[in-house]
Amino acid sequence: MAGTRGEFSSRLGFIAAAAGSAVGLGNIWGFPTQAAGNGGGAFLLVYLILAFALAYPALMAELVIGRHAHANAVQALQGIAPGANSRRLGTGTGVVGFIVASLILSFYVIVAGWMMAHALAAVAQLVGAGALANWLVEFSLSRNLLFTGLFMALTVRIVQSGVSEGIERWSRRLMPLLLLSLVFLVGYVLTLEGALDGLKVYLLPDFQAVLSPNLIIRALGSAFFSLSLGVGTMLVYGSYISDRENLPRLGGAVTLVDISIAVLAGFLVLPAMYVARHNGVEIFTATGTLLSEDTLIFTVLPALFDTMGVTGPPLALLFFFLLTIAALTSSISMLEVPVAYVVESRDVGRQRAAITIGILIALVSVAILLHFEWLFGLVISLTTRYAQPLLGFVYCLFCGWLWHRHSILQELRKGSPGIESGLFWKVWPTYVRYVCPGVILLIFVSSLLG
Ligand code: TRP
Repeated sequence: MAGTRGEFSSRLGFIAAAAGSAVGLGNIWGFPTQAAGNGGGAFLLVYLILAFALAYPALMAELVIGRHAHANAVQALQGIAPGANSRRLGTGTGVVGFIVASLILSFYVIVAGWMMAHALAAVAQLVGAGALANWLVEFSLSRNLLFTGLFMALTVRIVQSGVSEGIERWSRRLMPLLLLSLVFLVGYVLTLEGALDGLKVYLLPDFQAVLSPNLIIRALGSAFFSLSLGVGTMLVYGSYISDRENLPRLGGAVTLVDISIAVLAGFLVLPAMYVARHNGVEIFTATGTLLSEDTLIFTVLPALFDTMGVTGPPLALLFFFLLTIAALTSSISMLEVPVAYVVESRDVGRQRAAITIGILIALVSVAILLHFEWLFGLVISLTTRYAQPLLGFVYCLFCGWLWHRHSILQELRKGSPGIESGLFWKVWPTYVRYVCPGVILLIFVSSLLG
């Protein structure tokens, strides 16, 4: 079915789309909340180290395999497996990946729905509909169900229209605007009373905490989540990159953009927390742990906009709208994983596949919403903290041990003819063979023991 596969129309198109996938709630909701709840500066430090030392090499593994195969994860891994057992491992990894991608999407649409509701609440406030605005920002089952459904419907619509029509067009337009508004808000929050306390927590690491196995595994999960790794998202995106492109450089650009935006969001959220506390909003429990971590930013950011007077609601609208778009460019990349697989391996049309899978995943979201207290956190930690790094581990095994090194070189050479003599080729193959799998295992074992 090679003829029916799309391809990104330009290098910028791919960077925008892959960065669109990477940049999302993980950067602005996930990372800052995790950092705030797990030692601030210590978390930031470990996150940065792991993002460059483990997540980037794992991203490269997915991109190289994806572009080589020009196919979905299952077929791609089967294609490079040298024997029957490794073929089975490939099939298993691809299938588990698409189940994990679907589970991640099931909680992701819930959080994205909250973003949408907050954007609309700002509109309601602007037109003087106070009661509606209150309903939109309050945590209720009816609101959650409605917005989860709406967001899923949007995701399905875009995935139905295919790669360059849908994904690329959306990603390119609004990402730069998100960056700008983030920079503006960081500049603003730093002028407020209390912000400095937040800044200190964020930038001064407690070196004792850096070695805590619990912190390390959370930071690892956060980095893998933020770069959309393990489940085949980046593999599928890699499969749409043209052979002329220089993969290590593209992957590096995506990593840099993604990590910078997460770090930048930390400069907004942590100071905003302490500004809110300064203004009397409760954010810590009596024992000093964070109050309701998952919804933290939905308390402190609205409190921040409240300090802005009349400019608050329009800015809140802009910001939550852009976050909704950022979430959308990520959610489409998750849905693309099962959809690409079903479309390419069963004879099902894209339209039908997207809607059917979308409905199935939305049903899982409803189950999570009905048992929010125990399911929401559980699904998040199982998928992001455990499944993603473990799947990344298998990808590294494929690149480091199972796939012939010469074929990898051939693949990389297509877009960068002199690659053998560069630093990347000197380090990366050995690195994904020994260091990445070894360190991921070590982190797992120590978190299980500790
Ligand atoms: N990385 C995205 C974010 O930070 C979320 C995301 C998109 C994702 N595709 C993924 C996470 C695949 C895990 C797996 O919001």
